Amino acid sequence: MNLPDFHQRPLAVTRADVPKLMGWQVTLPECRTPLDAWDMQRDDAPLLRSLFSSFRPRRHLEFGTWQGFGTCLCLESCDATVWTINLPDGETKSDGSWAYGERVVDEKLSPPGAIAANYGVDELGPRTYHRTDAASYIGRLYRERGFGHRVCQIYCDTRQWDNSNYPAGFFDSAFIDGGHAPEVVASDSRKALQSVRSGGLMLWHDFCPAPETRDFDSVRGVQDGLAFVWPELSSQLQYCFWINPSWLLMGIKR
Ligand SMILES: C[S@@+](CC[C@H](N)C(=O)[O-])C[C@H]1O[C@@H](n2cnc3c(N)ncnc32)[C@H](O)[C@@H]1O
Repeated sequence: MNLPDFHQRPLAVTRADVPKLMGWQVTLPECRTPLDAWDMQRDDAPLLRSLFSSFRPRRHLEFGTWQGFGTCLCLESCDATVWTINLPDGETKSDGSWAYGERVVDEKLSPPGAIAANYGVDELGPRTYHRTDAASYIGRLYRERGFGHRVCQIYCDTRQWDNSNYPAGFFDSAFIDGGHAPEVVASDSRKALQSVRSGGLMLWHDFCPAPETRDFDSVRGVQDGLAFVWPELSSQLQYCFWINPSWLLMGIKR
């Protein structure tokens, strides 16, 4: 399949085009959710599973672990070992609030050592919230599913992660899904590019050029961060395309 030039901006390709481009004998799952009502765990997960099971990385790098949902998608789809990075104490928004938290009604179901905050009592009982991207919540899903032996968890700000200790091209694939501030996206993209081998797979989450997603902070942050590094990124990629419909940008390293 011949593609027009993508160096000005990423191309858009359909889900049916991806296997043709990659030479895979699979059909990627369809999805009819409107792009402004998108849910990663419902709408991108089947696509990510297909991409991982077709590409079959052995060493996969993930920026942004949260509870390990994306890590599990890779672990369950192929035999990879996954290196995944998260801030140890969770992400804090500019107004000081937590970026990821949820109310816990049954404390028995939560992991020990969770960071909690209490806001009084209502008809459901104590208004207890847990910070779900910190401490023992980080990666809980891959641990609960028995995948701990296939994961190297790294606890730091990705901007501080020192990838010079890994051989260049050590990783077969990378998933960039950590902080959404443009400077974090730019830094993560640069590090991913240095760390992935030639022919390796690069995926960015929260990339969606459809106008109806323009007001999502995460989408704007990813697009602004990528725009910043686009000349160096695109010159080191064989292809780069937005999979339509999805919130995923996919690239193959030159
Ligand atoms: C969108 S969530 C990751 C979702 C996960 N990849 C998945 O598939 O379920 C983003 C995660 O990145 C973490 N994060 C945000 N900024 C970061 C930074 N600068 N360094 C490391 N982790 C960061 C947050 O704490 C959060 O857990």
